[in-house]
Amino acid sequence: MDYETPQFFRVMQYAARAERDVVDMVSGNPDWEPPAALREGLAEYADGEVSDFQYPPSVGLTPLRDEIAERRGVDRSRVLVTNGAGEANHLAMTSALDRGEGDEVIMTDPVYPYYAGRANLLNAESTYVPVDETGQVDPAAVREATTDDTAAIVVNSPNNPTGAVYPPETIESLVEIAEDHDAVLVSDEVYDHFDYTGDFESALATDSDHVVATNSFSKSMAITGFRVGYAVFPDEDGPLGELVERARTRHMIQNVAGSRPAQYAVLRALRETPPEYYERSRERLRERIDRFTDALDAAGAEYTTPGGSFYVMARFDGFPGTMENVERLIDEAGVAGMPGEAFGESRADWLRFALVTPRVDEAAERLADYLG
Ligand SMILES: Cc1ncc(COP(=O)(O)O)c(C=O)c1O
Repeated sequence: MDYETPQFFRVMQYAARAERDVVDMVSGNPDWEPPAALREGLAEYADGEVSDFQYPPSVGLTPLRDEIAERRGVDRSRVLVTNGAGEANHLAMTSALDRGEGDEVIMTDPVYPYYAGRANLLNAESTYVPVDETGQVDPAAVREATTDDTAAIVVNSPNNPTGAVYPPETIESLVEIAEDHDAVLVSDEVYDHFDYTGDFESALATDSDHVVATNSFSKSMAITGFRVGYAVFPDEDGPLGELVERARTRHMIQNVAGSRPAQYAVLRALRETPPEYYERSRERLRERIDRFTDALDAAGAEYTTPGGSFYVMARFDGFPGTMENVERLIDEAGVAGMPGEAFGESRADWLRFALVTPRVDEAAERLADYLG
């Protein structure tokens, strides 16, 4: 399995070049409207002073960090605004590895491919713990895999690609394991607004010095192109207080700062968007999940019903989730998904479909016609 380069863009480009109509269910790019206040914030920014067009603080606009800190119940000093959750995850992992207390990273299988590619890039030792059929991770298996060489345990809930939402007990156990081995639990919570079970609880609720929680507005505000995310690091005065300073330095050297207009617009949207916006997004997805899985049922496919995030995995007899089969589906069925093999060995028979199109039943019908 080649984890060096995530395959999302390759599939998207292949689908875009196809000579037929293709229902695009490849990436996690939402197709719904951002909050109204986001567009208003952007328009307002365009009329700002020249001085407003200059570098923001490297750690992010202060009022945005304040707004995030208040919502997360932490001190502002722990919040670093990043170039999406992608950079937040990168800083969390590098600052854990830079401690020099170990060079192993524990991840799940299936894995979000960017974690795996990053662990490779950083020359970390990668260990994968398979999840069960429903996508749940067994803390006992993680404990067994963890050693004193473990620098970080990286998890994602609600999960891409399985749709699993880990119950609070799982997160608490994972935090305990990280504490027992002086490692860092990196908890990627980018789909926290897409929890349909009501079970989701942030790892920050454990109040542990061994947690870095990462997040972004890419999905919750339907703005993957804006690149605004954040990480909440352990308290600077605690035992892992060095992490946040290391991350700030790396972020500054790498980026100088983040994008000011994007942060400005996100701040306005955070302040002014009512809970109904997020509820409508969940409702839209619940409805798509129902329609897509009903149609997959009719097609005789096996599938997952996500408790969170917006991906459905499907398995068709005799049609494993290889890149070759994904390309065939694009060319011959007119549906583009991701190969399960891109996420690890345990889902190599599966295909992943992102519910970022209203055309979900049409897609399922095309799959049924082609594979049924
Ligand atoms: C689990 C997970 N983490 C992080 C990201 C990247 O988020 P961002 O756009 O904020 O960098 C994604 C995007 O699909 C994701 O699925």
